Amino acid sequence: MSEVLELVDVSVVREGRALVDEVSWSVKEGERWVILGPNGAGKTTLLNLASTYLYPTSGSVSILGEELGGVGVDVFDLRPRIGIAGVAMADKLPRQQTVLETVLTAAYGMTAHWQESYERVDEDRARAFLDVLGMSEYLDRRFSTLSEGERKRTLIARAMMTDPELLLLDEPAAGLDLGGREDLVRRLGRLARDPLAPSMMMVTHHVEEIPPGFTHVLMVRQGKLLAAGPLETELTSKNLSKCFGLPLVVEQHGDRWSAQGLPLT
Ligand SMILES: Nc1ncnc2c1ncn2[C@@H]1O[C@H](COP(=O)(O)OP(=O)(O)OP(=O)(O)O)[C@@H](O)[C@H]1O
Ligand SMILES: [Mg+2]
Repeated sequence: MSEVLELVDVSVVREGRALVDEVSWSVKEGERWVILGPNGAGKTTLLNLASTYLYPTSGSVSILGEELGGVGVDVFDLRPRIGIAGVAMADKLPRQQTVLETVLTAAYGMTAHWQESYERVDEDRARAFLDVLGMSEYLDRRFSTLSEGERKRTLIARAMMTDPELLLLDEPAAGLDLGGREDLVRRLGRLARDPLAPSMMMVTHHVEEIPPGFTHVLMVRQGKLLAAGPLETELTSKNLSKCFGLPLVVEQHGDRWSAQGLPLT
């Protein structure tokens, strides 16, 4: 199996502080990873490395077999192979675009409104991804008028548009109500179990948001890697307690997870 992502002794240092501290991590094709950790742990920084938008201060990062900063490696060739859905992306998009346009522009590597006419085949693809994410009824709505959940689903459809080999999701369920979260987790679960779907990495704060079909977990705290491996062996009460810094009990219910703090004595 080939490597989708390989970090070797990676540190990202800003103002004398290591946001990512000597992290080594390897993701293989077909794996779906969830990244857990408290606020400020370095999760988004890890996704920024994986998306080529950030270079390490030290160590090496290889994405889809290409080393960041390596001889002859052009990030502009690499970027279309990576789909990103995160808060930062939402801020870059023109808010007056319709939902369909927002997804469609991804095919052309643009965040701005298009000038040229789009191919019919691209429009069909955009419609199909929006359908998978349950957004078919919103095609002509302005992106700026969408609710948080509708916006998140649109961004995931957008990230799928370039047919990426790697899909990066930064807190896709944050801000959703219970129904919205369950709907999104179900849709991501369907995607995760599709053998043709890209490799996936999803940042979250809540084990309840881990979609069925996700296979591995990485836990970080203060930039340091605490655990990385299959969910079954690594998503334990011990590891999660260490990660969040308080006693927690994690439970598996079929293909879903939950966690809660121990009652005060
Ligand atoms: N350019 C920067 N200069 C200095 N510090 C930074 C910079 N970018 C991020 N940080 C800090 O690095 C730490 C890790 O940030 P990061 O966004 O990766 O955290 P996170 O795990 O995604 O947190 P959250 O759960 O709140 O999204 C934070 O303390 C943040 O303030
Ligand atoms: Mg973050």
